Amino acid sequence: MMEEKFDAALQDVGLREKKKEMITALSGGEKQKLALACILAMKPPMIILDEPTANLDPVATEAFVSLLETLKEERHLSLFIIEHDLDPWVSMTDRVLMLGRDGRIFYDGPLREGLQEHAGNLKHQGVAMPMVSELALQAGVAEPPFPLTIDELRRRNPVLEGKQRVRKDEIPLLRAENVSWKSVLKDVNVTISNGSFTAVVGPNGSGKTTLCRLLAGIISPSAGKVEHPFGKKEQFRHVGYVFQNPEHQFLTDSVWEEVSYSGANRKQVQQMLEWCGLSKHVHMHPFRLSQGQKRRLSVATMLVNDQDVLFLDEPTFGQDAASTEHLMNLIEEKHRSGTTIVMITHDMELVDTYATRAIAMKEGEVAFTGVPEELWEEDVEAFHLKRPLRAQIEEAAYVPQ
Ligand SMILES: Nc1ncnc2c1ncn2[C@@H]1O[C@H](COP(=O)(O)OP(=O)(O)OP(=O)(O)O)[C@@H](O)[C@H]1O
Ligand SMILES: [Mg+2]
Repeated sequence: MMEEKFDAALQDVGLREKKKEMITALSGGEKQKLALACILAMKPPMIILDEPTANLDPVATEAFVSLLETLKEERHLSLFIIEHDLDPWVSMTDRVLMLGRDGRIFYDGPLREGLQEHAGNLKHQGVAMPMVSELALQAGVAEPPFPLTIDELRRRNPVLEGKQRVRKDEIPLLRAENVSWKSVLKDVNVTISNGSFTAVVGPNGSGKTTLCRLLAGIISPSAGKVEHPFGKKEQFRHVGYVFQNPEHQFLTDSVWEEVSYSGANRKQVQQMLEWCGLSKHVHMHPFRLSQGQKRRLSVATMLVNDQDVLFLDEPTFGQDAASTEHLMNLIEEKHRSGTTIVMITHDMELVDTYATRAIAMKEGEVAFTGVPEELWEEDVEAFHLKRPLRAQIEEAAYVPQ
């Protein structure tokens, strides 16, 4: 009986085949799904979820949200969701509480009215609008009713700006040749060009983190080779790496030490902490920070250095709108100053905005490499991706009436 309950919960989150797996061998997203399964198995009348989809790929996110929607309808489950990314939740939300920077509730009511009423002030308060509403504002579609879904926005015929991407000479910097790792990666060939901004995308458990660890030299291939121009001993001075789990990054007992660890001077450390909104916490133990602060600190420890290549494993998860934009600006600045960036992300809006190249993984293989525009033309569902909103809306515009 118990076993059946567990199996059903694992099935619900899509982890049925991993039942016998060691937890340490699960990918970041798989661990998160497991945590959700544990709660679902208890069949509570109410669930409080604190950023439940932060590490899930876009298709897993959608599946998870619609699972909750079904449970809400069928079992009259009450849900209390703490979230930065509203888009997936729009249709099922009855009520929204908006908290400002001072921790006070400045709005309590239906979502649409809340967004309408506070549109101008939200970013300042650290509250992210749904991407659709954000895009609506950019396209000048502001009169009520405020669009919340793609269909609603489409009906208002928005005029969206296209993307312009500068193509640079592609000089290879890192190269994986016929690389395999345990049974996880199979015969991978991939090149990272000097000065590029590469997004690595794909389903949970497809091998993104493993590929980046191999390229960065943190683990060694079981077969094949990884080539890079840095000497073996020198490698770690040239290559920076932000781990998926921020706590894996921390080596010291205070925020200040963490950022100054690699030898940055006082002024640099001070400035970086200010940029990352951590100046008030310099003496705090890194483990006592909030999840979002931990994430920013772990990125800051790497941004303060001057590496040739910087790997970032989901650097923006758990960040509010303003922080995400801020972090991305800092990363983009690094990129512009010549650092080669390799960023794992489930956020296709970021891929569309910042990446010059995209690598899509699927079941331990590299299934796509190219510029983001080409990726949006692929069968993205097969990679558990969603096209960015801009592409979704443009695509709909071509449908003959
Ligand atoms: N040490 C290990 N030994 C065996 N298998 C592992 C090990 N670490 C990870 N795996 C497996 O390798 C696969 C790929 O893991 P990886 O962490 O690279 O995925 P990912 O694409 O980064 O996923 P996510 O989006 O969830 O972070 C997963 O199925 C995982 O269970
Ligand atoms: Mg990962």
